[in-house]
Amino acid sequence: MSLKLVHYPDPALLEACPEVTVFDEALDKEIEEMQSLMIASKGIGLAANQCGLNKAMFVMSSKGTVYEFINPKFVSTPAGHQLIEEGCLSLPGVLVTIERAAEVVVEAKNKRGETFEVVATGLEAVCIQHEMEHLRGKFFLDSAPRQQRRAAMKKLGLK
Ligand code: CO
Repeated sequence: MSLKLVHYPDPALLEACPEVTVFDEALDKEIEEMQSLMIASKGIGLAANQCGLNKAMFVMSSKGTVYEFINPKFVSTPAGHQLIEEGCLSLPGVLVTIERAAEVVVEAKNKRGETFEVVATGLEAVCIQHEMEHLRGKFFLDSAPRQQRRAAMKKLGLK
């Protein structure tokens, strides 16, 4: 496997990823490698810029199947609230509780370039919001309550 995890505070995690415009075999291969890396790392989601790819796409595991979301967009404003403890493969050992929308409706493309729409709730909704933040160059600690963020940074020896 050629893809490797990038760890916080790598600058690749703080840059927005451009949209995918070419759906070819090379993209297929990248998606496949992202899926393998996510599974090997025991994650439930992985954004492209977490493994050195500067493209607006992520993979997510749900009920034993891994799906790819390419050029994802919210179809409607995320609704409701839920609090779930989140971690990130780019920051092992840190868990923070973040307030997220309880339901999201997202439109994205699969690796063949076909558009699909999903309505997600619970942990899947959290995962989608977390990964879409990655693609905008935002890191999950930025969404954490200030005290938790400070504790995490201290633990990491940062700022
Ligand atoms: Co993450």
